[in-house]
Amino acid sequence: MSTPARVALIIGSLREASINRKFAEYIVSQIPDSIEVEEVNIADLPLYNQDYDNQDIANYTRVRKQLSQADAVLIVTPEHNRTMPAALKNVIDIGSRPHGKSVWTDKKVAVVTASPGTYGGRVSGLDVRKSMQMLSAQMMVSPEVYLGRAAESLDENGQVSERTQKFLKRFVDGFVEYIAK
Ligand SMILES: Cc1cc2nc3c(=O)[nH]c(=O)nc-3n(C[C@H](O)[C@H](O)[C@H](O)COP(=O)(O)O)c2cc1C
Repeated sequence: MSTPARVALIIGSLREASINRKFAEYIVSQIPDSIEVEEVNIADLPLYNQDYDNQDIANYTRVRKQLSQADAVLIVTPEHNRTMPAALKNVIDIGSRPHGKSVWTDKKVAVVTASPGTYGGRVSGLDVRKSMQMLSAQMMVSPEVYLGRAAESLDENGQVSERTQKFLKRFVDGFVEYIAK
């Protein structure tokens, strides 16, 4: 029996009531059971410092291992001040070092952004794509998902509206296909 594919999930928001977490949970609920999804906790990571490259930082080791063992990484993130949140950039930097040991090389990566604003946090998503291109990751090109006015797609229980479910189905199907490639 073949081992199940593994997805490492990164949520770019540290906020307890994060809308991005709600969308991530919905997306994960639609991914077939044959694919294992494990969240990478990015809240407890010291700010990346190159001086740490030769030190044993337990939390860095944990996330580098999770990311390197994953067949694909799914990033669901807000936009902060027209770019990705600092906590997300931090884990990208941590994974990229020490030099020559990047976890991102050839890694399959997909990004979804969500924002209550009109533009859906798309600059954040585009900036993730830019970093991943530089890191030689295999970024999933389409469908692109930047969920605008995203708070309106969730009810008070955090349930995703039917319209948005339909929209996200194309992404989930594409992502599952991408992992299997
Ligand atoms: C520091 C900060 C900067 C923000 N900058 C942007 C921005 O550039 N674009 C945007 O669409 N929303 C911006 N927002 C609003 C976020 O999209 C909103 O807070 C969203 O709910 C965050 O996602 P979350 O609920 O998953 O934490 C910003 C919020 C914060 C706290």
